[in-house]
Amino acid sequence: MKTRVLPVDGSEPDAAALTMAGRILASGGLVAFPTETVYGLGANALDAAAVERIFAAKGRPATNPVIVHVADAADARRVTALWPAVAQPLADRFWPGPLTLVLPKAACVPDVVTAGGPTVGVRVPAHRVALGLIRAADTAIAAPSANVSLSISPTRAEHVLRGLDGRIDLVLDAGQTPGGLESTVIDLTCSPARLLRPGLVTQSEIEAVIGSVEAHVNSDPSGDAGPARSPGMLARHYAPSMPLECRSGSRSRVEALMRQGERVGWLTFMGEANAAPAGVRVVAMPSDPIDYSAGLYAALHALDIDQVDRIIVELPPAGDAWQAVHDRLSRASR
Ligand code: TXA
Ligand code: MG
Repeated sequence: MKTRVLPVDGSEPDAAALTMAGRILASGGLVAFPTETVYGLGANALDAAAVERIFAAKGRPATNPVIVHVADAADARRVTALWPAVAQPLADRFWPGPLTLVLPKAACVPDVVTAGGPTVGVRVPAHRVALGLIRAADTAIAAPSANVSLSISPTRAEHVLRGLDGRIDLVLDAGQTPGGLESTVIDLTCSPARLLRPGLVTQSEIEAVIGSVEAHVNSDPSGDAGPARSPGMLARHYAPSMPLECRSGSRSRVEALMRQGERVGWLTFMGEANAAPAGVRVVAMPSDPIDYSAGLYAALHALDIDQVDRIIVELPPAGDAWQAVHDRLSRASR
């Protein structure tokens, strides 16, 4: 299969491009598209055979359910069987945006989407291209991140092609995605609600709307807090192809590896990066957690392409705003 790449304007996507992509989805094909978090690999969520193609293209285990993307809360209610009292205030506050709600699934959602389970993850993306595509296809779109299973999520069209060129029909290329990390996933089928995956919407922002939620476990990049409970939350995930270590005071580790002749990629903060040892492939990361999140996967893709022997990451600060970054670094380092 030849994969087409179609450039689109992220703020004012061309209607003809969206119509063409919508037709591919309506006829069972696969289209990668930008969201405000990462690029997704989309198929018609109500077409089981089309969704099976997503699993085949990614090499994704059938046990890992896929998020359903819809245009608004009314459409979210069509793919869900129950809409608990906490769902509406969350939808009002965070949609369109990077929050996925796990709810009982409606009968119209095929089993392949939910990995055979009784619940479905649903969200309204905030990116103009994503919303335009949902409307053009006139259906809900099932979309995991557009990468080969377990590897780094794509934040640019080039990243999508690294893993999926020749395996999908089309990539809508609107450049770098603004958010850079995947959506927050929260399970609303239990009480209190349970955070399954930290993301750009933070736990405290959610708690400000619905009160306390059961915290996410297993997000300490330098430790081991035990198993997570979301089916897709494998310990090693979101990972580059070489070993990655995350530690504070990482400079001495980098220097030691350099002395041993290793080619080291070093993700550290701007001040330290300016005085990096000669020969290190250094990436200067911003100290703001939003900016750090936006650039993290692009930095990991770049070091992956450079084929360094090892990636050393300076441990970011603690705190709610860094929870998603810690979670992804933890999974990348196993
Ligand atoms: O930002 C995002 O969420 C991106 C964009 C494309 O929307 N999508 C994404 O999809 O990251 P994916 O498949 O890479 O990650 C979805 C996560 C997985 O950890 C999966 O297990 C979980 O959401 N998930 C999906 N449906 C679920 C369900 N019914 N119950 C529990 N977890 C679910
Ligand atoms: Mg993914």
